[in-house]
Amino acid sequence: MINRLVREGIEDLVPYPPGKPIEELERELGISNSIKLASNENPLGPSPKAIEVIRGKLYTINRYPDGSGFYLKTKLAKKLTIAEDKIILGNGSNELIELSVRTFLNPGEEAIQPFPTFLVYEKIVRAAGGTMVSIPLKEFHVNLAGIRDSIGPKTKLIFLANPNNPTGFALSGSDLAGFLEDLPHDLVIVLDEAYIEFVRDETVSTGLKLLGRHPHLLVIRTFSKLYGLAGLRIGYGISSTELIGYMNRVRQPFNANTLAQAGAMAALDDEEFVEATLNLVRQGLEQLTTGLREMGLSYLPTQTNFFLIKTPIPGKSLYEKMLRRGVIVRAMDSFGLPDYIRINVGLPEENDRFLNTLKEVLETSS
Ligand SMILES: Cc1ncc(COP(=O)(O)O)c(C=O)c1O
Repeated sequence: MINRLVREGIEDLVPYPPGKPIEELERELGISNSIKLASNENPLGPSPKAIEVIRGKLYTINRYPDGSGFYLKTKLAKKLTIAEDKIILGNGSNELIELSVRTFLNPGEEAIQPFPTFLVYEKIVRAAGGTMVSIPLKEFHVNLAGIRDSIGPKTKLIFLANPNNPTGFALSGSDLAGFLEDLPHDLVIVLDEAYIEFVRDETVSTGLKLLGRHPHLLVIRTFSKLYGLAGLRIGYGISSTELIGYMNRVRQPFNANTLAQAGAMAALDDEEFVEATLNLVRQGLEQLTTGLREMGLSYLPTQTNFFLIKTPIPGKSLYEKMLRRGVIVRAMDSFGLPDYIRINVGLPEENDRFLNTLKEVLETSS
């Protein structure tokens, strides 16, 4: 009955697989002390400075948040040397993806993405009555020419994650600039820089430098990864004043909550935590890739805090076996990569446990 009431296209959508809380998983499987390396989170915890400031703000949550995000936007504007009215805050960068679709995509119009990529783009586009055109990666690289050639009269949005999830590959600054230069001006490009702070390859550069030439470019960023604030839900978008103005018309007035705004401001100043996170990721990647090489396994190079590992048994089965031993990784079948798993860098002892468990599982599976 209700199925006749839902909007077109909703019937075919599959809910995002959220994963059970760790406590519930442990109860079900009869295990304890499990570790999670499946969601590209920061294993160090949240920025300590953010925690401290949030504590002080707890007593103000009887009030609505600052709907203009004044202080956080001012701080971001200064840090990025960009005007405040070119910035919009979101309930995580996920909300900015959703706002971009709600602001620009009419039902029946198309968006383009490379594939595999972050699954949320397609979900949101389809839920809004749009069509997602997916252009396969070429040997794990984004096929920019393929994307450009797929632009048609119905194309309204292009999604590009740089670096991309789940591959960890990043486009060079010159490839990105060339791509934008070639595009028609009647579409919006959402450049998702959720992991840009982790990039070490100097040929890669942020899309912020290209905003001046491309007013229809929207760069989105998050506090969920480097700053360890995934549970708070706070991200931001940067574009032209005009584009941000339209998105502001669509957003809910109090979309970025009080604790998130305060925590994000403190985290931006937490240089010690940022450095500790970047060091941890660098060393953890070294530790993990050395261990994998010793086991004769191959993996993809990465510019992020996560990477893909090629599995000698189906990734889904490896995921299930690791899960029963308390190590949560991400199977990649929903990304069209059934022979891969994705893990993020954990604490040194978590990385060790991952490697030992992987070895044990593969030995018992052969
Ligand atoms: C490419 C990409 N964009 C955005 C997000 C979501 O970030 P947020 O927590 O800010 O909604 C993720 C999270 O995994 C991601 O991988």
